[in-house]
Amino acid sequence: MAKLSVNDLEVRGRRVLVRVDYNVPIEEKAGQTVVTDVTRIKETLPTLELLIQKGARIILAAHLGRPKGKREPSMSLRPVAAKLSELIHRPVAFVDDCVGEKVENVRFHAEEEANDPAFAEKLARLADVYVNDAFGAAHRAHASTEGVARVVARRGGRCAAGLLMQKELRFLGEELEQPARPFVVILGGAKVSDKIKVIDRLLEKADAILIGGAMTYTFGLAQGQQVGKSLVEPDRVDVARAALAKAKDRNVRFLLPVDQVAATPVKTDKLDKKGKPVVEWQQPHTVDGVDLAAAEAGLDVGPRTIRLYGEAVAGAKTILWNGPMGMFEDPRFAEGTFAVARAVVAATQRGAKSIIGGGDSVKALNKSKLSDGVTFASTGGGASLEFLEGQELPGVAALSNA
Ligand code: 3PG
Ligand code: MG
Repeated sequence: MAKLSVNDLEVRGRRVLVRVDYNVPIEEKAGQTVVTDVTRIKETLPTLELLIQKGARIILAAHLGRPKGKREPSMSLRPVAAKLSELIHRPVAFVDDCVGEKVENVRFHAEEEANDPAFAEKLARLADVYVNDAFGAAHRAHASTEGVARVVARRGGRCAAGLLMQKELRFLGEELEQPARPFVVILGGAKVSDKIKVIDRLLEKADAILIGGAMTYTFGLAQGQQVGKSLVEPDRVDVARAALAKAKDRNVRFLLPVDQVAATPVKTDKLDKKGKPVVEWQQPHTVDGVDLAAAEAGLDVGPRTIRLYGEAVAGAKTILWNGPMGMFEDPRFAEGTFAVARAVVAATQRGAKSIIGGGDSVKALNKSKLSDGVTFASTGGGASLEFLEGQELPGVAALSNA
């Protein structure tokens, strides 16, 4: 069901509560907290500018991090408000609580994530109208994403999708319903269990699915390969086998890496943030094939795979990419992911429509300065995955129908 758009709202002089996803990366630099990636803020500007132009009084609500219901100074949205003010060339009043007449990280209240009805009522007091532009948080049924919309609607107020929300739903939804063919899907990431629902659904739509990332090794295990110390989910081997069978059944090209970059993990006596020993990856080298030695782990796709996947992407008319090909945070294991990014951009220049499903793949695109080269890059991580799985997002479901 199509949802009401912010375009269709009459808001002059009215208080509009706008939920945005400003859960952005921040860092301490020279004693100051700075936002290190402004994409999520920038992407909401069209909605905010439209509402300003329509004469609305805007109240923004957002969360940052996972403060677990307590005030956590390191997760204050104050630096984000400052960044927004700079980007929108207007003052943004910052208030240090979100109920009453004030706004701050909604997750400083445990009632937010509990979707507490009384808390949703309080949030709703701020609003005559509700707009949700927080696609990235729309998979959460929280008070500021779901509960408040129900309250506003019950009172006869209207609840609309913002322009970013609409764009996300269009590219990750409608545009993939009847894709121009060939439709090539690239799926990476660590776990088959995270991606199996998406794989299953896309096996019904795609012409080809290209697999990368550590989930490769669960497929490898399913085919009797030697996966060494690679990350695997032995309890998902059946699921991997079923996906392979479904691909064959439906005549979907299902490509798995044919070579890889592997290294030997060695535990050091340093501890990471979680108190686990830091692993050093020693002797990275290319393995020309699928079998690994017992002591090594696969961390990226190899050069032959890069060529093979590059060819498949080059022939595509529609491309969906979600998940990195390897451990791209380490430059020694980043080439597969960056090569895919370059191939997707090149195909886009030749007229393909490219849709990037958020999270790590967008991070990799940004890192390689290629994000302007794709048709659409989602601001959602978990949300885009759940939406691609075909799930209804609670934050969308709660909006008024068009
Ligand atoms: C995100 O960054 O994924 C969204 O803002 C949602 O945050 P959450 O995963 O902590 O619910
Ligand atoms: Mg998340």
